[in-house]
Amino acid sequence: MLMLSILLNYTQPEHIAMTISPNAAELYSRVERFIPAIEWPAFSGDIDAILKLKRERNAVILAHNYQTPEIFHCVADIVGDSLALARKAMEVEAEVIVLAGVHFMAETAKLLNPQKTVLIPDMGAGCSLADSITPQDVRLMRQRYPGVPIVTYVNTSAAVKAESDICCTSGNAKAVVESLGVPRVIMLPDEYLAQNIAAQTDVEIIAWRGHCEVHERFTPDDIRELRASHPGVTVLAHPECPPEVVAEADFAGSTAAMSDYVGREKPARVVLMTECSMSDNVAVDHPDVEFIRPCNLCPHMKRITLANIRTALEEMRHPVTIDPNLAERARLSVERMLAI
Ligand code: 13P
Ligand code: SF4
Repeated sequence: MLMLSILLNYTQPEHIAMTISPNAAELYSRVERFIPAIEWPAFSGDIDAILKLKRERNAVILAHNYQTPEIFHCVADIVGDSLALARKAMEVEAEVIVLAGVHFMAETAKLLNPQKTVLIPDMGAGCSLADSITPQDVRLMRQRYPGVPIVTYVNTSAAVKAESDICCTSGNAKAVVESLGVPRVIMLPDEYLAQNIAAQTDVEIIAWRGHCEVHERFTPDDIRELRASHPGVTVLAHPECPPEVVAEADFAGSTAAMSDYVGREKPARVVLMTECSMSDNVAVDHPDVEFIRPCNLCPHMKRITLANIRTALEEMRHPVTIDPNLAERARLSVERMLAI
């Protein structure tokens, strides 16, 4: 009985606030709806160490919207979608960038910061879209469609970007496609993103057969069932979802666009057809919005943890390197996108 009472006491957030430093209590208050108080001590040691290591190493942490709340809200300096992370990477003054996200994001940060050390805490944090296409595939597409510009999603390797004319993200794909002023473009490698953009523009789009393993699993039936069981729910979908899913949704946009939509429209109930941590991270700033949470986990994003961010900073691993022969061409594709 005594043990149970100690445990119950311990799990109260106020108790946490009284027994740890004001800074740690403030950090915990950001994530207390997602991390039970009893689990917090398992995170707080790594968080303290990471905050100290960032100062010692003159490092910043860039975290994608799909990172878990304890990373996103407690240690990250800059958060956002792929486009925001690329833009903000250019403004970083620190000597070291830790990319809490997947490998292509770390490569993009390195392309834009060749003099800085860019670390990815787990080299296995890949992406099914990046794996769906090789530089040789891009060269073959160019041969097959001579003179047609190649727009490449940032979810690709630097080697693929180097074979492309310009990059895009889900946040700017339509603007990039239309900026080229041509009737036809090749858009690689996400077939669904290409189809979703084709539905919004007069530009003809030739697609590749790559898919995001997280977003391809959503179906229109999922949305119909959600609407039946949660009347009035607003459905937001990422444009990596199949077009039939986007057609059933109320709004489609990048992770940042979905987050902005919630802030702007303040729906009473919302569901985000995307990766699971996204709802947790957005919900922190919108306690009055009810988040319905069917979601799919991205196994690559989930490879990044507080523990391996701490190790990355302690041991300065794993530094991202890009073959100098292709870095300049890949950078050009990213810079052309950022200029739009
Ligand atoms: P955003 O650019 O919308 O953040 O998407 C990145 C991503 O990997 C989505 O699966
Ligand atoms: Fe790649 Fe999909 Fe994971 Fe995004 S969610 S990193 S597109 S596998």
